[in-house]
This record gives sequence, structure tokens and C-alpha cells, in this order.
Amino acid sequence: MDFKSYIRDIENFPKAGVMFKDITPLLKDANALQKSTEALLDLIGDVKVDKVVGMESRGFFFAPLLASHLNAGFVPVRKPGKLPAKKMSQNYDLEYGTDSLEIHEDAIKKGEKVLVHDDVLATGGTAKATCELIERLGGEIIQCNFLVELQFLNGSGKLNKYHLTSLVQY
Ligand code: PRP
Ligand code: MG
Repeated sequence: MDFKSYIRDIENFPKAGVMFKDITPLLKDANALQKSTEALLDLIGDVKVDKVVGMESRGFFFAPLLASHLNAGFVPVRKPGKLPAKKMSQNYDLEYGTDSLEIHEDAIKKGEKVLVHDDVLATGGTAKATCELIERLGGEIIQCNFLVELQFLNGSGKLNKYHLTSLVQY
């Protein structure tokens, strides 16, 4: 299936100069949703996964679907102030300033095998902060999986110690 034909470019969103990759046409099409889920599972391969970690917000589209197929649990990494129980934070750099992500301290047990999933790999800041949270809890990251990789932003450079996979590349 030509997945790129279900991903549309939106110019100047969320701010001037940015070309946004909108995956909602892929999500709303029953066949494209099913085929892209299967293709992500093919990329992940036949590996044991205890937890799938997805990042708020758009990582939540596919991560629970993948977890269900992999017989794994789903763990949300959330934006600050959203998680209710005892949590850890990790800061990361943005183009201007910093942001942070949070995970529940009891979300991952030491030695558990973790698959990271997000919709887009851009500069890699989100994924790197997520991996740091997982490793601080003692999780073992077996793969970082993305629907879309924006290769021109070199996010893979920040994540070179991990196995990265993506369904479509620009
Ligand atoms: C987008 C996207 C990834 C991240 C990638 O999320 O969904 O999570 O940016 O960028 P990076 O590789 O440069 O970190 P965003 O923070 O815009 O929020 P959203 O998922 O809530 O829409
Ligand atoms: Mg996101």
C-alpha cells in the first residue's frame, strides 16, 4: 500500500515555515489504518515485548493498537502535569527553550523489554527524552518505531544507540 498517499502536507502549521505531515487521512480510512498497523508490526518483527510506550498525543494513536497485537501492555509518556501518581520527569531541548515529559515510576519494571512508538521522528528530542525515562526505570529498549521519519531533521543522530524503524520516510 502507498501509505504516503494517505499523509497530507499542511503548509505553515503549527507555525510559519513548518510543513506539517497530517496522518488523519490514514487514520480515518479503515483499510489504511489496518494495513499500516500490520506494516508497523512487520517492522517490529517477532520479538518479545513487555511494554509499548507511546508519547502524548499522537503516539497514542497507534501504540495501544500495537501493544494489543504484541500481547504487551501500553504505557503513556505524557506532557507535564497530566499523570496522577508518582512520576519522573525528563527535560529536553526545543528549538527555543526546553520542554519535559513524564512517566509513572511504576510503569516499567527493571529488565522489561520496551518498544517505543511515536507517529513522527523529527529532531529526535521527544524520543530521546522518552528513552531516557525508560532507561532510568531500568527498561531495556528493543526498538524505537515511527510511522513517519523526517530524515532531513537528523533525529536518528540523537538515537544512534537504538534500533530505529519507520514506515515512511521524507
Ligand atoms: C510531534 C510528533 C512527535 C514529535 C517529534 O509531537 O507527534 O511526538 O513532535 O518531534 P521531535 O522529534 O522534534 O521531538 P508534538 O510535540 O507536536 O505534540 P503532539 O503529539 O501532542 O501533537
Ligand atoms: Mg507528538
